[in-house]
Amino acid sequence: MELKERIDRDKVPQHIAIIMDGNGRWAKKQGKLRMFGHEKGVLPVRYTTEAAAEIGVKFITLYAFSQENWNRPKHEVNALMSLLVKTIDKEVDSFMKNDIRFQVIGNIKMLPQKAQNQLQNAIDRTRDNKRLTLVLALSYGSRWEILEACKNIANQVANNTISIDDINEDLFSSNLNTAHIPDPELLIRTSGELRISNFLLWQIAYSELYFTDVLWPDFRKEDLFLAILDYQNRERRFGKTSEQIQER
Ligand code: FPP
Repeated sequence: MELKERIDRDKVPQHIAIIMDGNGRWAKKQGKLRMFGHEKGVLPVRYTTEAAAEIGVKFITLYAFSQENWNRPKHEVNALMSLLVKTIDKEVDSFMKNDIRFQVIGNIKMLPQKAQNQLQNAIDRTRDNKRLTLVLALSYGSRWEILEACKNIANQVANNTISIDDINEDLFSSNLNTAHIPDPELLIRTSGELRISNFLLWQIAYSELYFTDVLWPDFRKEDLFLAILDYQNRERRFGKTSEQIQER
């Protein structure tokens, strides 16, 4: 039976987050420059989005550029940024055709104004699409996001809009960039690295983590299906006992 058919459609995660890693190593293995690897990383974004939509995933969040990535050599930062924005710009028609909503999380103000405008255009055009939401984490850092939420909440307390007793998990979540996005049930990282790298720290409190040695440019639909099948074989206990979960 094909991998896709083995997936239980009643237990598909509604949100999958992915740390796309290994473009540089992939390029090096071919004796090419790092940027070649990033360019070859575009197609797997398409495959993954298509595969997710086919099986009914509602949100995909891709870690495309971290705040720490600004520290890479200037030529790589510039080339990567222009590849990311150019790709999104080019894909908007296909987002419209496939009913995909596009969103961004991260400190977008760090991006050149032209890039910000292009991203905003993609967000605005796809606003009413319903099948799947593709969230790009760009200039994103989870600690930055958490600090911004703290500042927002502190301001609301200072303005008497809320009181300290109103601060709870829901209020905190609603002050994050991901306010209208459910927490991911599954987080995938490619390339064999076993780290979270400042990605969605609050949101992944109860996510299942899946690490694969596949380098991002080699990631295919089957790799996503394998990750989902692995997820479906796990018992999500949320702090309860196995017996309590099975009683339900
Ligand atoms: C990690 O590989 C990848 C990135 C920092 C950039 C991700 C960008 C893409 C996949 C290009 C296309 C994406 C979109 C959304 C259009 P790395 O450079 O850290 O690789 P290394 O760890 O092997 O050096």
